[in-house]
Amino acid sequence: MCGIVGYTGKRDAKEIILNGLYRLEYRGYDSAGISLYNQQTKRYELYKDAGRVDHLARIVEDVPYSNSGIGHTRWATHGKVNQLNAHPHMSKNNRFTIVHNGVIENYKNLRDTYLQDHRFSSETDTEVIVALIDYFSHTMPVKEAITTTLKRLQGSYALLILDQEEPSKMYAAKHKSPLLIGRGKDDYVVASDLMAMVGVCDAFIALEDETFVVIEAQKIILYNLDHQPQSLQFQTLDYTDELADKGAHPHYMIKEIMEQPIIIRRILEKYFSEEKLALDPALIKEIKASERIYILAAGTSMHAGYVAKTMIETIVRMPVEVHIASEFAYHPPVLSKKPFFMLISQSGETADLVACLKKIKALNAKTCTVTNVKTSTLAREADFTLEIYAGPEIAVASTKAYTAQIAVLVLLAYALSGKETWDIRYEYSKLSQAMESFLEHYEEMHQITKQTFTKFHAFYIGRGVDYYVGLEAALKLKEISYIHTEGYAAGELKHGTIALIEDQTPVIALITTKEVALNTRSNLHEVASRGANTLTIVTESLKEVGDTVVLPDVHPYLTPILTVLPTQLFAYYAALERGLDIDKPRNLAKSVTVE
Ligand code: F6R
Repeated sequence: MCGIVGYTGKRDAKEIILNGLYRLEYRGYDSAGISLYNQQTKRYELYKDAGRVDHLARIVEDVPYSNSGIGHTRWATHGKVNQLNAHPHMSKNNRFTIVHNGVIENYKNLRDTYLQDHRFSSETDTEVIVALIDYFSHTMPVKEAITTTLKRLQGSYALLILDQEEPSKMYAAKHKSPLLIGRGKDDYVVASDLMAMVGVCDAFIALEDETFVVIEAQKIILYNLDHQPQSLQFQTLDYTDELADKGAHPHYMIKEIMEQPIIIRRILEKYFSEEKLALDPALIKEIKASERIYILAAGTSMHAGYVAKTMIETIVRMPVEVHIASEFAYHPPVLSKKPFFMLISQSGETADLVACLKKIKALNAKTCTVTNVKTSTLAREADFTLEIYAGPEIAVASTKAYTAQIAVLVLLAYALSGKETWDIRYEYSKLSQAMESFLEHYEEMHQITKQTFTKFHAFYIGRGVDYYVGLEAALKLKEISYIHTEGYAAGELKHGTIALIEDQTPVIALITTKEVALNTRSNLHEVASRGANTLTIVTESLKEVGDTVVLPDVHPYLTPILTVLPTQLFAYYAALERGLDIDKPRNLAKSVTVE
């Protein structure tokens, strides 16, 4: 989703900002822009357009050295994808320039209250912010004009603001949308994502809501919205730069699929100390003291939540409910008396979950974020954090974060059960090896994909945990290959949806649970006799002649981590066959920071 990068210091602002924007490309966007200080004209000049950062880089190719500027990648929320709606936005008199992440919910109301005579150039909510700052600046100092504006905004924002009359100053503010300040040797980067400052800064702070900073030369001051200075505590930025390249792989997605066995081993290393599983005892105590776990998540993370529900309920015998975050935030269920909330989020920034967390905090209930980004909003604001150690996930379609989330949550279930009835270290190692041996032959999935996904509809079916993996398999296929795919409970298909089966519709059955293997096979026969092109993904001990993909047997609690691999590859190759932008599928964003 939208990305912000600002720079002020002595180095080449254009290069640092563009590099930062390239690093934020993985979040998904449709337009890019930059405002750079021109040392000759002594003004900030604006460059922006719909399209990729590459396109922006060509536009500013001949722009001379600049030591300060702000850049943005836009993911459209208000208004079409075009040059006028791209950020930065300027006030009408060209005095103020801003970039904005988030959504201003009351922008129409603000427009009607303060800016009736204003002629807007864009359809964005952002232009209202810059127009308001300008409006208030006629009657008060700039700092006050900014906070007066901020106090009137409802919704979410991360903002960088420049003033042509004081070009050496940069203002940054945030509310419900992440913004971080990075400190270099003698310069600062302000960005919505840590990735944008890796290699430039060695320390950073994540701004709190309703605070703003003024950066000028070497000085940085943090204020609350009443202009009282706040203390600033930078922490070391020790992010490893795993982004550098895709290795031998043509796309981040395939690189990330291939990393999964290593991540399983990394999770073991991180969570084991002196041969013992070392999860925070306070977390275990809190969950044990509760009556019911509520898992809140979106998309792929929610699918990991469903698998985790099955495992926690089986291993711990504790009830677990999974809820779509955007539904839970405004239509919560009747809760148990002692609830515990697990928020699963790769990015830790998903706005739907941030909204849930706010509501949960009002209930005084305890929360744990399961995330890949330990510096994220959700990690900072929950009572506990379980890191998944997947390393930066750049492809928009989540693969390694999904399996890492399940791996960490099964460890949690194991710790909660307190019964060491299976050798978890051995089983995780065995899983990692099984993943590796399957992935050694990953190209075999290419041929199957070519023969299978020839239609514009497809189904994954399964029962129990296989159904949950099928939901994720279907999401993966549809989001990057644009083939309409449903994940369906195998037994439910015949209650209506079977009407969609046509000649050669691909139906892939996931069969890894002995108790229901035959039932799922029967369901597959039902669709085969109606013309479907049927395939199977099965485990070794359940295989039958004619099965399509046979996976090694691993511990049943860990099987879903293995079963999903061929489906990730099917999605990858289906998108490849269609010549699509695999790492940046249309309309999608990596980090969904609007509700
Ligand atoms: C799909 C995908 C999304 C995310 C969802 C939640 O491949 O990545 O469905 O899972 O947007 O994002 P996080 O996990 O960052 O909260």
